[in-house]
Amino acid sequence: MAQSKHDFIERKVGWLIVFTLLTVSVGGLVEIVPLFHMKSTTTPVEGLKPYDPVRLVGRDIYIREGCYNCHSQMIRPFRAETERYGHYSVAGEYVYDHPFQWGSKRTGPDLHRVGGRYSDQWHRIHLLNPRDVVPESNMPAFPWLDRPAKSDDIEAKMNALRKVGVPYSDEEIQGARKALEGKTELEAVIAYLQGLGTALNAGKPSVAVSAAPAEAPAAAPAEAAAPAPAAAPENK
Ligand code: HEC
Repeated sequence: MAQSKHDFIERKVGWLIVFTLLTVSVGGLVEIVPLFHMKSTTTPVEGLKPYDPVRLVGRDIYIREGCYNCHSQMIRPFRAETERYGHYSVAGEYVYDHPFQWGSKRTGPDLHRVGGRYSDQWHRIHLLNPRDVVPESNMPAFPWLDRPAKSDDIEAKMNALRKVGVPYSDEEIQGARKALEGKTELEAVIAYLQGLGTALNAGKPSVAVSAAPAEAPAAAPAEAAAPAPAAAPENK
């Protein structure tokens, strides 16, 4: 009888532990195993390309200088964020980021969609001394970035990334040193910043949030209030 079986489990602590573990592990496996076979979080968004050598070096400098201590790279799907920064971030934008730079500390603004927002020259002045363009800025200056970028380890970096799934071709790796010739660290960081977050909208000029102001005034508030569904990217 069900009742007596239950009595048995409750009285024998050893069996209780065994059955508890069994139940929990079945529940856990059911939740975890499908994730290993799910492609959707690892599928790049259309238009996303691996970092070219200059951007890759720029990204490493971004990490070296600790830019992530003050800047996140993840726009959350809330109106306050999408109005300020643009389309919220989606998983498929980060597949070539090893490691990703999401961050959670925002002393400065989120940078995930900073690509194309300013000119290269603006970034140049800003990085050399932020106060020259934003007088109230408390971002540190990075004057030492105006020096040649290191290129003798670029093949090793790209090979390492290829091992974790970034599809660099042999030609790209062989041509990397040449691409870096004469580049400064400053130029590399700027190239990296200018590419940030641009893949999602590539070839699609009007993604919902940016389209809102162009709408008739009556339609605008509704549009702006629900940017998420209207802009739902191809999250296949
Ligand atoms: C101590 C914190 C701090 C660090 C470290 C820092 N920043 Fe900033 N950053 C800020 C603040 C605050 C602002 C906003 C004021 C301004 O624009 O200067 C800002 C603004 C920016 C902007 C303009 C963003 C926008 O949308 O207007 C960019 C680009 C930027 N930082 C890049 C960088 C890079 C690249 C690094 C690393 C080399 C870096 N920051 C390191 C604090 C920081």
